[in-house]
Amino acid sequence: MPSTKIAGIGHYVPENVFTNDDLTKYMDTSDEWIRERTGIEERRYATKYKETTTTMGAHAARAAIEKAGISKEDVDFIIFCTLSPDYYFPGCGVLLQRELGITKTEIGALDIRNQCSGFVYGLSVADQFIRSGMYKNILLVGAEFHSMGLDFSTEGRTVSVIFGDGAGAVILQPTEESEGILTSKLHSDGTYAEELALINFGSHSGYHDDIDYGFHNEDKPGGLFATEKMVNEGMMYPYMNGQKVFKKAVVKFVEVINEALKSEGLEQSDIDMLIPHQANLRIAQFVQKSLGLSDDQVFNNIQKYGNTTAASIPIALSEAHAAGKIKKGDLVCLAAFGSGFTWGSTLIRW
Ligand code: ACO
Repeated sequence: MPSTKIAGIGHYVPENVFTNDDLTKYMDTSDEWIRERTGIEERRYATKYKETTTTMGAHAARAAIEKAGISKEDVDFIIFCTLSPDYYFPGCGVLLQRELGITKTEIGALDIRNQCSGFVYGLSVADQFIRSGMYKNILLVGAEFHSMGLDFSTEGRTVSVIFGDGAGAVILQPTEESEGILTSKLHSDGTYAEELALINFGSHSGYHDDIDYGFHNEDKPGGLFATEKMVNEGMMYPYMNGQKVFKKAVVKFVEVINEALKSEGLEQSDIDMLIPHQANLRIAQFVQKSLGLSDDQVFNNIQKYGNTTAASIPIALSEAHAAGKIKKGDLVCLAAFGSGFTWGSTLIRW
């Protein structure tokens, strides 16, 4: 059975740089508060009316396809990970196919809704398809257009200062060499679904009595998915229980990395490069310390891009690789934690 290797990586970030000071024009915050709590100095925002999650994903995909030395027509499956899709449906997978001009219809396109751990989940799905022999060139993309849906008033500051826009992509291929994905570990705990969530607009239909979903019971069909109250009272912005997320994340990141290492008979010190999901620099530093890794063994770029959710790992992987920080034979560890809660890790022999 073949293993799965990353044959090409690419990323795209919008030109528009938004510094912490820029945010102070819209909300009561400060560069000091943001840097201290999150490590973020600036982030990129997509150009309104001109860019979408799909177009950013397409830029990253074209770069990955070129690096892999294949043509877009060689792609036989697309996996698109995002929490900020162009449309509620259809998903970005088919939109990307169209944007890239892939006209053959023998391919499939799948959307993954796993937020911050989307890319790690996507890698694992792709790995199973490649190992089984079903596909030979899978295009896996993580892309986010957060800025279109954040609350830029002071009320939304805890969430909105953290997130940025961008995209990353990889091409996955089979390999018979002793390289590629060694293992993936995936986990979830739906108990915490609403602790980091955007529940409106949605089809929840007032399921939990203790949550104000923004509608009143009416004895007629419809009127649940989107209401005036949701719009007028800002109920369609993301909510995050920051402290709960922080406390869970630092434990689960370390657990799931150790789980992957143990299953392969490896030690923490065997890791050459850890690329954690760029949630928050403080979380990454905590994980680094817990695993006893040096600064050279961990790559962070949240300072420049903020948290780009499903895009953060492939953007960081692309930058680390381009900077020569990942060499053939290195043990690369990817790990993520996020909304759901879902979390996971991947070990790759480069
Ligand atoms: N600027 C200035 N003040 C702010 C801001 C802001 N942007 N946001 C909140 N505050 C204020 C609050 O109103 C509060 O004021 P008060 O004391 O007068 O009430 C004070 O700062 C402290 O607020 P907390 O929410 O307690 O701040 P905390 O120290 O917990 O930091 C943070 C918030 C940064 C979100 C932190 O909880 C955290 O890092 N959590 C992890 C969440 C995370 O990383 N999420 C990323 C997305 S999820 C993922 O990718 C895994």
